[in-house]
Amino acid sequence: MNKDITGKSANRVDGKAKVTGQATYAAEFAIPALLHGFVVSSEIAKGKIESIDVAEALQVEGVVQVFTHENRPQTAWFDKSYQDEDSPPGSPFRPLHNNEVLFSQQPIALVVAETFEQARYAAILVKVKYQEAPHTTDLQANRDQAYVPPKYKSQPPPEKRGDVETAFANAAVKVEQEYFHTAEHHNPIEMHASIAAWEEDGTLTVYDKTQSVKNSQKYISQIFGLSEKEARVISPYVGGAFGSGLRPQYQLFLAVMAALELKRSVKLVLTRQQMFSFGHRPATIQRLQLGASTDGNLEAARHEAYAETSKFEDYSENVVVWQNVLYQCDNVAFSHQLIGLDVYTPLDMRAPGGVTGLYALEIAMDELAIAANLDPVSLRLKNYTEKDQNKDLPFSSKELKACYQQAAERFGWDKRSPAPRSMRDGHNLVGWGMATGAWEAKQQESAAKALLTLDGKLTVSSATADIGTGTYTVMSQLAAEALGLPLEDVTFKLGDSSLPEAPLEGGSWTVASVGSAVKLVCEAVGEKLLKFSRKLPGSPFATASLEEVLFEEGQIKLKSDPAQAMAIVDIMRQRELHFIEEEVSSKPAPGQKKYAPYTHSAVFVEVKVDEDLGTIKVTRVVSAIAGGRVINPKTARSQILGGVVWGIGMALHEESFMDNNFGRFINHNLAEYHVPVNADIHDIDVIFVEEHDEHVNPIGAKGLGEIGVVGVAAAISNAVFHATGKRIRNLPITLDKLL
Ligand code: MOS
Repeated sequence: MNKDITGKSANRVDGKAKVTGQATYAAEFAIPALLHGFVVSSEIAKGKIESIDVAEALQVEGVVQVFTHENRPQTAWFDKSYQDEDSPPGSPFRPLHNNEVLFSQQPIALVVAETFEQARYAAILVKVKYQEAPHTTDLQANRDQAYVPPKYKSQPPPEKRGDVETAFANAAVKVEQEYFHTAEHHNPIEMHASIAAWEEDGTLTVYDKTQSVKNSQKYISQIFGLSEKEARVISPYVGGAFGSGLRPQYQLFLAVMAALELKRSVKLVLTRQQMFSFGHRPATIQRLQLGASTDGNLEAARHEAYAETSKFEDYSENVVVWQNVLYQCDNVAFSHQLIGLDVYTPLDMRAPGGVTGLYALEIAMDELAIAANLDPVSLRLKNYTEKDQNKDLPFSSKELKACYQQAAERFGWDKRSPAPRSMRDGHNLVGWGMATGAWEAKQQESAAKALLTLDGKLTVSSATADIGTGTYTVMSQLAAEALGLPLEDVTFKLGDSSLPEAPLEGGSWTVASVGSAVKLVCEAVGEKLLKFSRKLPGSPFATASLEEVLFEEGQIKLKSDPAQAMAIVDIMRQRELHFIEEEVSSKPAPGQKKYAPYTHSAVFVEVKVDEDLGTIKVTRVVSAIAGGRVINPKTARSQILGGVVWGIGMALHEESFMDNNFGRFINHNLAEYHVPVNADIHDIDVIFVEEHDEHVNPIGAKGLGEIGVVGVAAAISNAVFHATGKRIRNLPITLDKLL
């Protein structure tokens, strides 16, 4: 093992391709004789299409066809054919299925033309008559409609323990509050897009924006009856996704449908407005009760969530599981109910459930600290849990105490004066707040293939994705390390459905899952090399076992005497091997079930609030992360920086504004949907706390894609309270709420 490769910062291996425009995104593949699609979106939120007149649109020069529910080709009959790996329980939306309108901006027609401009123009000429029905889009107003879903998408709320009613009634110190956050949309810079390239032999090559080529491939296979060979899905680069690419979106369905029917290649790119027509972080109401003794020992905790879903799928997230992960308490109760609205089904967005559940819990803990007259960090340390009370298991590792300690020290927390409005900087009120973050560190089954050629170059592949997280780079590092090759000699391939099976690129599990397969497959190549070397004349490894050798600098060396070495390429040459190829599948080890694997973080934030204007600036953030082994500190830090920026957006800017009159997210553009810009971002300091984890997976890394955003919105809310004395329990914290 070459110890110099992982744990060290490496530049992105795809960095140059990206900054020089060589990286091809889904809509950028140059396909000859391409047709262009444009989607017509429903203007109403609910009802029926009484008539749809496409005659005028068809007259436009270059228009080839207009697809509607009236003329769409036959597709799969059964609901379940439209389900994908990330589907919640329910009946997935089927584009152009019938004349029913289920949500605003539903795709109701696809215009296909020789040019994009022709298609877009003709789309305006499609005349739709609706039979409008009353819609329901107001979460708060429909709270009495909340229901317990027959099945939860991920895990059901944890079981009740102890007697929370009595414990809460008797608690000396109490917090009982409601917290709310609005819907948010993913808004990656790259719009969702698919090209269905029609080949002469009737097969399709599909270029799709996705977090899983396998998922997209299976989806179109099920619906259109295409085998894996008849429809290959390619997605080498993704311009941000954050969860929006976990499910196949409707542009994939429509592009493939049109290409198959027209026997031509079809490209379909959604507009920014249409990016608000599928999937969002669901608006959620949370109710919390925390009760403690006078010295701050938690005696009762209740966490309830009321979250929106569509009328056709029961989307739910793990919102109420975090109390059990973070704070020891014997009397607890949890519930998670859904409220069905006439919107598209919500969709996983970076740290789904965690970032929202901990938003509420970590503000409630801040309120409890104030009620108990305790420092917020002390309160958390007092109630620190050494086991995951959800499953009654010890943690695979947990360096959260070190996170609190190192972040507090770096931040200068000991200089905080606890009283609200007690710290100032000129006309600004200064607030310091903190919060805890946690996220699951899962490993999923994954496969990888390795090909070592006579020139000493190694190509490793798996059908995973790189949504900007650094997958290409980190997998290359893991492979280089396992076989002791220089990083330049390793190529990692992903984003092609013909490659070995990989899970969805999400859940922060890619390094743990695909990385384990990469490590394993490279070790299998190494083992083969050793086997071949043993029989060579004068081999220093004649009797050596795998444990007795190391792979370093392109050579196999004897651990006991590293001067005894053979170059990998020499072994291959002498044995007349042109290449060595291995493929493995890697599954979580059974022993893992004995531990609860979580990433943890502590986030400390400084805000400055203009006393007259109510404007909030997040001037400093220190985020300490315990995420196991860090493979590439540079890309790892970027993940946390990005997560913190997201957290600032969630706390202060992002809001998908539902206009209940129209039943539509009305600010469906980047001018009115605010995300943080450079001027909003100041000092962000990331600390990776040392954490060794023997149990979590063969890599020892816990995943860093999501933990960075968790806790940030709560820490900012707590800091705003500390600055102003005003507690805002409603995200985003905009001026109007604060003044
Ligand atoms: Mo993430 S929301 O699992 O892409």
